[in-house]
Formats: sequence, structure tokens, C-alpha cells
Amino acid sequence: AETHNHQFVVQETPVKRLCKTQNSITVNGQLPGPTLEVNNGDTLVINVVNKARYNVTIHWHGVRQMRTGWADGPEFITQCPIRPGGSYTYKFTIQGQEGTLWWHAHSSWLRATVYGALVIRPKEGDSYPFTKPKRETPILLGEWWDANPIDVVRQATKTGASPNVSDAYTINGQPGDLYNCSSKDTVIVPVDSGETNLLRVINAALNQQLFFTVANHKLTVVGADASYVKPFTTSVLMLGPGQTTDVLITADQPPARYYIAARAYASAQGAPFDNTTTTAILEYKTAPCPAKGVSAKPVVPTLPAFNDTATATNFTSSFRSFKKVQVPTDIDESLFVTVGLGLNKCPSGASSQNCQGPNGTRFTASMNNVSFVLPSNFSLLQAHQQGIPGVFTTDFPVAPPVKFDYTGNVSQSLWQPLSGTKVYKLKYGATVQVVLQGTSIFTAENHPIHLHGYDFYIVAEGFGNFNPKTDTAKFNLVDPPLRNTASLPVKGWSVIRFVADNPGVWIMHCHLDVHIGWGLAMAFIVDNGVGQLESLEHPPPDLPVC
Ligand code: C2O
Repeated sequence: AETHNHQFVVQETPVKRLCKTQNSITVNGQLPGPTLEVNNGDTLVINVVNKARYNVTIHWHGVRQMRTGWADGPEFITQCPIRPGGSYTYKFTIQGQEGTLWWHAHSSWLRATVYGALVIRPKEGDSYPFTKPKRETPILLGEWWDANPIDVVRQATKTGASPNVSDAYTINGQPGDLYNCSSKDTVIVPVDSGETNLLRVINAALNQQLFFTVANHKLTVVGADASYVKPFTTSVLMLGPGQTTDVLITADQPPARYYIAARAYASAQGAPFDNTTTTAILEYKTAPCPAKGVSAKPVVPTLPAFNDTATATNFTSSFRSFKKVQVPTDIDESLFVTVGLGLNKCPSGASSQNCQGPNGTRFTASMNNVSFVLPSNFSLLQAHQQGIPGVFTTDFPVAPPVKFDYTGNVSQSLWQPLSGTKVYKLKYGATVQVVLQGTSIFTAENHPIHLHGYDFYIVAEGFGNFNPKTDTAKFNLVDPPLRNTASLPVKGWSVIRFVADNPGVWIMHCHLDVHIGWGLAMAFIVDNGVGQLESLEHPPPDLPVC
């Protein structure tokens, strides 16, 4: 196995998109940032130097970080932020994961421009469980604001309203030729007739689930979240923010140019969303600019309607792990966690400026009616390791305080979550099941739920209220997919299982950034039951403190 050393300089860089140049926070001046390419078993040592004027941290999304929790990256969970002028070196080893992951800033909305791909190939001497493709192309789907994303989220936090939606989606940082001033920078993916390309598709958008397609071409799904899956063929993918999907595409169509395209899957009824389409071009090399008789205009694909939940759910429920797996069956810890939005009443005397949510409220979000508050003086991991009192409480509830019909409109009293830094303690080695139940308070919508430090099996998902009597029979304990982010169906539920074999503090949150800001998160502490973080490595000497 190899060790790869990198330096990431976080800096302000002028970036031109949609007819206008603005200063963006980038890594090494690149947008998207550098692609990291490693083999399973390799070690990464990444020195992050913060030359920007914001605090920053970097999270290696989906990397298990076995015993290296100090390198996970979410701010105030496993580290304090790297201050302007500061630096921190992340060091971790890839263990048993193959496929596509990615990295992104885990601080405010900086990940809008601070993100990149992490490509994990099989160990030297091992091979893919499919014919080796001729080419491999990372496809990062992103979201662009014609404004500083930090200002967009600050404005929303101040007013209590929804933030402005983005102005464009992007493929590898470029909006593509359907947007103003963008056609000459449209990303071209070249192919030779007959060859197969492995597209490593990553949804790096902040707040939007996305459909993805390539005109006239079949996509064969072979992996997701750095785990192989039983291959299946589809014409359209749906990815929640945080998710990755590896697909093989064979250039078996007449030589021409074909659009690669993505646009919103927006399940929330009535909520505003960016309804634009981003494009790149799959270009047969025998048909460049154009060859005789070939149209220069790319072939246009059909994408599902923005509210096509049937297509989205049909896709997410098609995943099976490549091989039979060992799903934990004797469950030690069983949690039922509601996931949803809410509206907080404004405190009396609050100015109407600060209460611009629906009907003079402020948006909030919660899990089991607890709206998560990040600490500010210590990271949770540091507070736990050093036994610092008063930073968090361990009373995150195993179920919501009251049961209700999660698919319908409910009384306003349920829109008033408590806030707190509540964690749930898991004993090292425990088997865990979490039923994630979406609520339909205020809006019904999907939530991409991401757990740090673990991959989990999604043993079942469905619509309506989870019913332990009838739904347990549907659990797939043979070949469920192993993922780090579950797309919780709209007005529905997902059941996940994992073994708590990684000591540390691990946040679980909705990967729509706007929802994290409203509190849609909780954290697990995994230790030996008497406070010791079994076999967690020591904190690195340069770990940023608050
Ligand atoms: Cu990709 Cu906590 O995030």
C-alpha cells in the first residue's frame, strides 16, 4: 500500500460563471478541487492550509475512518475549525472500500465550492468485479449561486426564512450550454465508438436531489458509496446530496454528440427550487466539431419530471449488494428517529425582520423533536475524550416524545422542537438498527440521511408510517446495499443497520445543507461504556482547538 501526500490550500479565487466573476473559496485555485486517486489500503496525508477569511474543515465523505476519528472533519464534532492562517493535517487509511467517495468542506456552506472526488481503485493486483473500462470519468454534480453562498445562508439564518435557491447546477464545476455565457466552457467527455467508460457520479449539490441521464445511452450501475452492487441497467439515476453512483456506459450509438444532463428531483410540494438543467457533452471522437453529416447539436435526453417520485424510488430501491452479506440480526440498540422540518413560533417581541418563515415563523428541523445545536467551545470528540462537562448531554431519545401520523398534517404543538446538543451513546461492538421516519410537518419531502464513520445496510424502505408488525417481514437480510447516505422516501421510512465497531463521535444528519443549519442532525458516541474510546488513535498534535 502507498501513502499519498497532498497539500490543500484553501484560498479565495476569482471564478467566472454565468456571465460574472466573483471571488470563490477554492482548494488550490480549482473548482471542483483536486481529484484524489488511491487504491484500497492506501493512506492519505493531506495538509490543509487555510488562506481564506473563513473558518474551514474538510470532511472525507464516506471514508470509514476506522480508529482515526480525529480526521473525520465535521466542525465542532471531531475538531474545532481551522482558523484563517491555520493548518491541520488529516491522516487516514482506506480500509475495504472501493469505488467513489468525495471530500468537502464541513463548515457553513463552504462546500458549495470546496469539494472534489475521491477515487478508490482495487488493491494492486485485485481487479474490478466487471470488465475493466477503457476510461474513467468523475462526474461531480454541483450547485452554483450568483452570490457568495455564505451570505445566502447568513441571510436565511437571520430572517428565519428559506434561503434563496441556486442559480445553476453544474457538472464538474460548469453549468453547461443551456445557461447564459456558459457554452464555451461546457464539459466535454470524449469517447471512442465501442469503448466503455466508468462514470463516477457524485451529487455534491448543497440542497438538491438530482436526476441524471445521458441521451440515448444505457447506464449500468455497478457501485454506490464505494461499495459494489449487483449490476442493473437504467436510463436515469437519482442521487441525493452526498451519494455517489458508479455506472458503466458503452459508446454503442451512432457517432454524434449526446447530452449528459442533470436536474432537480424536488419532492417538497410548494417549496421553491431551482428548475434549471445542467449539461455536459458525451462526444464521440469520430464525430468532433462536427464530422460530415453529423449534427453539432447534441442529442437531447428525456429527464423525469421534477416530482417523479415513482422513478426516484424505483431507482433507489433497485440496489442490492454485489455479494451476500452479514447483516447484524441480534439487535442491541433499536432507535426510531423522526426526521423533518418544523416552524418555530417567534419569541414575543422578536422583530418581523427575523420571522420571515411561513406565517411569521422561523424554520427549524429536528430528529425526534430535538433540533441539534453545534457546540462552540470544544468539539464533541475532544469534550468526550477529556471528560469536559457541559458540552453535550447523552439524552437523545430512542423515539419521538409522542407518536403521530407522520404522513399527514399535525398539530402545531409538534412544530416546536427542543434544541440541544444531545447525543446517543452506543457501546463499542453493539448491533444497531435505526428506523428513519420522515415526518410531513409543514412539507413532505425526501431527506438524504448521512452517517459519519460507518457504512450501513439499508434493509428496507417504504411509504407511509413504518409498521413494525408488517414491515419487518419485508427486511432484506441477504443482500441489502451498503451505503453511507440513505435517500429517505418522501412521506416514508428507511431502516438501516450497522455494527458500532468504530470508536469516536459520529454525526448523523440530513445532507441538504439548509436542513443541517436548521438542526436536522444528532450524534452517536461509540465507546466502551465507561467513557473510554477503545483503540481510538491519539489526537494529532496539530488538532485545531477552539
Ligand atoms: Cu458529506 Cu457530514 O457530510
